[in-house]
Amino acid sequence: MAYQVEHIGIAVKDLKEGISLYEKLLGAPCYKTEKVDAENVETAFFIQNHTKIELLSSTHPEGVIAQFIEKKGEGLHHIAFEVPDILEEMERLKKEGFRLLNETPKKGADNKLICFVHPKDCNGVLIELCQSMG
Ligand code: CO
Repeated sequence: MAYQVEHIGIAVKDLKEGISLYEKLLGAPCYKTEKVDAENVETAFFIQNHTKIELLSSTHPEGVIAQFIEKKGEGLHHIAFEVPDILEEMERLKKEGFRLLNETPKKGADNKLICFVHPKDCNGVLIELCQSMG
């Protein structure tokens, strides 16, 4: 399957500072912020309708983004690919030997069903599959 990059996720320590920096960089306003409580994450989105930038900050000191920044510092966190049928794609990747970080799709930010593929199976890059919920 040929994938379209839907967004690129970037881990930041401070969401407000990240937003003002990326607004300057991109010359475009953040169009949405959204908390994903289940993931202890707050997100901010840029560039609607094209490949988006998603800033991610931790809302909890032990959250996954806080842990990521602790280990690797701020920066590229994941690349998300839009797929038309996430269940079918998860099945296909499992058969190909990829490890999925969640066995069933979960609700992500921006009205998406998402699933992460283990970065160790993707040359060190965390890959997100996402399907729009309409
Ligand atoms: Co994402």
